[in-house]
Amino acid sequence: MNVVFLGGGRITSAILAGLHLAKTKHHLVVHDRSAKKLRALKKLYAIAVEPDLERAIANADLLLIAVRPNSVVDLLRVIGKVNRPLLAVSVAAGVPLRTLTKALDTPVRWARAMPSPVCRNGRGLTAVTFPRSLPKKERRRVRNLFASFGPVVEIPESRFDAFTVTYSCSHGYHALATLAQAAQKAGLDRKTALLASAHALADGIVAWREGNDPLAALLEEAATPGGIAATTAAAMEAAGYRRAVRKGVAAGLRRARANAR
Ligand SMILES: NC(=O)c1ccc[n+]([C@@H]2O[C@H](COP(=O)([O-])OP(=O)(O)OC[C@H]3O[C@@H](n4cnc5c(N)ncnc54)[C@H](OP(=O)(O)O)[C@@H]3O)[C@@H](O)[C@H]2O)c1
Repeated sequence: MNVVFLGGGRITSAILAGLHLAKTKHHLVVHDRSAKKLRALKKLYAIAVEPDLERAIANADLLLIAVRPNSVVDLLRVIGKVNRPLLAVSVAAGVPLRTLTKALDTPVRWARAMPSPVCRNGRGLTAVTFPRSLPKKERRRVRNLFASFGPVVEIPESRFDAFTVTYSCSHGYHALATLAQAAQKAGLDRKTALLASAHALADGIVAWREGNDPLAALLEEAATPGGIAATTAAAMEAAGYRRAVRKGVAAGLRRARANAR
């Protein structure tokens, strides 16, 4: 299958790395307006590049739209000229299927996907959502592409923004940086602070994900009542940890909804 990426930025680079790692059989082509980015991607992943947008689209079996949300409309004008059946998948955050299909009076069929840059190492979860009208065969093609580099979950489009906001590896990086900073302030050197923080966060999460114990039971096991971990967690809570996360998620949701306009 000819998979053509429109946009050769961050997420395209991560997906290409994931597909490369999985030794994909698909023929991969990238279109971007920057010749420099195309050269770099070609060198890194031995993919084909096509600087001409119309030619890139003309040869696609599956189009993967990976430009920023405010650039999607520009591409839709060109995709709108396609007059043959074509499957298109948008990874643009917040841009709903109704926007993608509204502008087009063509046989192009749409799906949405939300991967993460972690797909680079073959472990990235991807959420997908489909319009009711999309045939099973097309759904399978989309799922299989993303399943090359990690698990795939299908969720209704009404939950897609909530998933997008929640599922960002930036939360992990942010938590790591924040805990390590506090650890340095408490006296650890930077290297040890990062090591201790990374294990604290990652090992706990892996233990929950790979085991059968409920989260509440693991939390109870890790924090002796009145002990250091319990005291630390209670102080974080009292300082507004939960409220800060809720506010962050709400702000992300508002941003995603603004992308739909
Ligand atoms: N990064 C992530 O972690 C992530 C995860 C999931 C989904 N997404 C979604 O993926 C999309 C891309 O994100 P990104 O982080 O990869 O952005 P990015 O790094 O800015 O990449 C987008 C690329 O597309 C190019 N482009 C924009 N409009 C174009 C056009 N009309 N013709 C040709 N090339 C064009 C941009 O060029 P210029 O630089 O010249 O504008 C840029 O090289 C976004 O909609 C985002 O919501 C991102």
